[in-house]
Amino acid sequence: MDTKTLPCSKESILWAAQLIREGGLVAFPTETVYGLGGDGLDPQAIKAIFVAKGRPQDNPLILHVDSLNKAKGVCFFTETAETLAKAFWPGPLTLVLPKKPVVPPEATAGLPTVAVRCPEHPVALALLAACDNPIAAPSANASGRPSPTTAHHVAQDLQGKIPLILDGGPCEFGLESTVLDLTGAVPTVLRPGAVTPEQIAMVAGECAVASSVMRPLKAGEKALSPGMKHRHYAPKGRMLLFEGVADAVAKEICRRYDQKKGACILAFAPHLAYYGNRRVESLGEDAKSAAHRLFYLLRKMDEEGIQLILCETLPKTGLALAVMNRMARAAAFQIINL
Ligand code: TXA
Ligand code: MG
Repeated sequence: MDTKTLPCSKESILWAAQLIREGGLVAFPTETVYGLGGDGLDPQAIKAIFVAKGRPQDNPLILHVDSLNKAKGVCFFTETAETLAKAFWPGPLTLVLPKKPVVPPEATAGLPTVAVRCPEHPVALALLAACDNPIAAPSANASGRPSPTTAHHVAQDLQGKIPLILDGGPCEFGLESTVLDLTGAVPTVLRPGAVTPEQIAMVAGECAVASSVMRPLKAGEKALSPGMKHRHYAPKGRMLLFEGVADAVAKEICRRYDQKKGACILAFAPHLAYYGNRRVESLGEDAKSAAHRLFYLLRKMDEEGIQLILCETLPKTGLALAVMNRMARAAAFQIINL
């Protein structure tokens, strides 16, 4: 199949909507990462999404909507869910709620719940407005690879597999949305993102974080969010994280770097001077810049054949929890405490 990458215009968005209405797939930008969209109520389109990504069948999809009303067509809202949607939509918050029968089991991997989100991106919203049904859209990467934050990343993984990529430039946030389970007694973050547990608690009164956010699943443990049991964001090289005071971290990173060829350091801007003329990539000043750059850097490490990635860390609060969750998964939870 010939894959076209087009800039976002009224015409290209309308063509994208037509492709989706006819059962086809289109990659499109959101404020978090690029999504691979298909008709969320069409079992054949949903199956095609799984095939294009090579995604395990047991990992359910997010249904994207452009209004609270459309969301109410596919799931049962609680009062808390409605309050949260009104506070954070459009935006990077995905709500897991009991599904309505109209949602095909293919979209939810057979679960009785469905994930819904209203993205805050003009192209995504225009596309959704031009389709009657919600759009099912996982991140537009090949399964296991870092999520795509540019149209070029999408093409690297899906060229030849889908007809159209809408190029909306780099995604603003750069990590996937917060996934919040609202089916239990306490709202629980299954995947941290730009909407933080602290912000959710301010609106909902309370918010828990699933313990598996910062550790691997134990043998036999059931994943609350099926996506969390699959290996994710894995670069080809080995990745190690270092926690502790900046001086000690830099010293240990330098020691390991000097022992191994083909290594690269990921460090925050204020620490770059520690590393002299060693190969180092900047994560920027803070959690926001690290979120924006992380997936781009992980892909770059692969392209350059880096064999060992030595990475600084952040405290696991606020936005940094999302960054640390993705870093920990990319590093297969190899975290060295100093
Ligand atoms: O920012 C995002 O959320 C992006 C953009 C495109 O919107 N999408 C995205 O989709 O990251 P995906 O499929 O890569 O991740 C969806 C996550 C997975 O971890 C999946 O297991 C979880 O949401 N999920 C989906 N439905 C669920 C459900 N019913 N219960 C629990 N977790 C669910
Ligand atoms: Mg994904």
